[in-house]
Amino acid sequence: MEIKKICVLGAGLMGNGIAQVCAQAGYEVTMRDIEQRFIDGGMKTITKNLARDVEKGKRTQADMDAILGRIKPTVDLKEAATGVDVVVEVVIEVMDVKKQVYTELEKIVPEHCLFFTNTSGLSITEMAAITKRPGKFIGTHFFNPVPVMRLLEIIRGYETSDETLEIAKAWGKTIGKEVIVVREAPAFAVNRILCTMLNEAFFALDEGVATAEDIDKGMVLGCNHPIGPLALSDLVGNETLLRIMEGLNRELGDKYRPAPLLKKLVRAGRYGRKTGKGVYDYTK
Ligand code: 3HC
Repeated sequence: MEIKKICVLGAGLMGNGIAQVCAQAGYEVTMRDIEQRFIDGGMKTITKNLARDVEKGKRTQADMDAILGRIKPTVDLKEAATGVDVVVEVVIEVMDVKKQVYTELEKIVPEHCLFFTNTSGLSITEMAAITKRPGKFIGTHFFNPVPVMRLLEIIRGYETSDETLEIAKAWGKTIGKEVIVVREAPAFAVNRILCTMLNEAFFALDEGVATAEDIDKGMVLGCNHPIGPLALSDLVGNETLLRIMEGLNRELGDKYRPAPLLKKLVRAGRYGRKTGKGVYDYTK
């Protein structure tokens, strides 16, 4: 099956990055979100990222214009999903909301359309089971910032067909990603390990083992990580980390208990960079 048209559902942190890399690879992309302000925010980020590439001489202005021309932003689900070959769903990480979206999508997309879900930890099998095409359903987990991070983690659901897996792997390469394939498990491979480490950093901070700055500096200089765990949690969103840890805790037990300090920050609305404050203050 040849992929030409892709619908990206969600224009936030991950959605706009996915729309950008798909358009860069030459695909026709519709980017849909539920409110115009989210769409505007997504297009602004894509434009800023591409303009930075132009400034650095990494791409031409004509290239940037062509990429932007391949992305059609809309708030209308029907307009976004009609006639597409693939839907990459990046809606909020709430199972019932995702299921509702797939139920609506089934009425719109063509029979051959594949469903790729960018969940950071929810069950692919459970989502696929409510559709009429579980064989055409697969997890495609991207990493933030999407245009920069090289990995695409592909997760097979229980009923995912070999053909869908091969198409998703080939597609990942066309958008410039290295692919790993994992079987379905809570938080898959990367987030299970990464998020457990980030969560541990919150325990260490709360216990006064070191300051936030020193915990981060320690992991950057001592382990060659590009960014410290607390700064990284602020980058991906503390509420996202909490949701992943809650899922791991539910499925795999107490070893994955969310750190109380992480819960407190989320309750305070300190989600990280996206809200201006997290472990660190980005408003200054
Ligand atoms: N969008 C696009 N490009 C970006 C970007 C963004 N948001 N942020 C940075 N970049 C680009 C810069 O333009 C720069 O490009 P260049 O090499 O061509 O000059 C390059 O990335 C490096 O950026 P900077 O020099 O500004 O800053 P850093 O060197 O500190 O890099 C970083 C920033 C790439 C974010 C780096 O800190 C990093 O790799 N951090 C780790 C990110 C990570 O671990 N992500 C995974 C999170 S887990 C996840 O997403 C899964 C989810 O389910 C939770």
